[in-house]
Amino acid sequence: MQEKWKEIDECTRQWIKEAGARIRATFEKKLTIETKSHRNDLVTNVDRETEQFFIEKIRKTFPGHHVLGEEGFGDEIATLQGIVWIIDPIDGTMNFIHQKRNFAISIGVFENGVGVLGYVYDVVHDELYAARKGEGAFLNDQPLPRLEPVSVSEAIISLNATWITENKRIDPSVLASLVKDARGTRSYGSAALEMAYVAAGRLDAYITMRLSPWDFAGGLVLVQEVGGIVTNLYGEPLNLLTKNSVFVSKPGLHEEILQKYIHR
Ligand code: IPD
Ligand code: CA
Ligand code: CA
Repeated sequence: MQEKWKEIDECTRQWIKEAGARIRATFEKKLTIETKSHRNDLVTNVDRETEQFFIEKIRKTFPGHHVLGEEGFGDEIATLQGIVWIIDPIDGTMNFIHQKRNFAISIGVFENGVGVLGYVYDVVHDELYAARKGEGAFLNDQPLPRLEPVSVSEAIISLNATWITENKRIDPSVLASLVKDARGTRSYGSAALEMAYVAAGRLDAYITMRLSPWDFAGGLVLVQEVGGIVTNLYGEPLNLLTKNSVFVSKPGLHEEILQKYIHR
């Protein structure tokens, strides 16, 4: 890996650890909680302060880079030219507020649209999932093995129950039959952690109907680096500038689910 990327990687790891410590220190303090697009779309002062923390560091250290951040402190990004950081300061804000666990910092760093570095940091467990393109993925310092194929009947699939009730995005019967055939289902409420769990082999697949780029940017690099497949629900590549359905899976399982369960 080029020196330039080694430097970016080292800085990012250090900033993530620092931001994580700051987040843990807020557990004793009162949060300011606001809503965004609807009553369950939550944001806190800690989400905003964490995003600002990263953006200040990036602008100072790497002035030519661009940043897309969920809370809007970054740049207006219209293209993926150059080096683009995609940041979710807290993925799983509802969990952060209600549970003080099951949330993560997620960061993906892309060069001309290609994922080079990916991070998901489980702040409470001090678990850093990190990947460098071509060099594999790691959980703290342990290398993550490449993912092996598995069948639906032996798979644990992460899926929010919303998608098997009446909803605007998918016929509930499509995913209901997958839920019946799978070995088990789970739902953690943090897309970034769910993708990290697929990368680490704790889950076999993760399916959701609508995520923003900051929800999946870090996880995308991680999962691809261990041989997992990341597409939209119809098997197409994800668009890093728009919302997407997201289907993350071990190889083999990805094809089986597309062929047997998903019909447009
Ligand atoms: C949310 C989480 C959640 C997913 C939502 C996201 P946030 O991110 O990733 O798992 O189902 O669609 O918006 O708002 O907590 O950063
Ligand atoms: Ca998110
Ligand atoms: Ca967030």
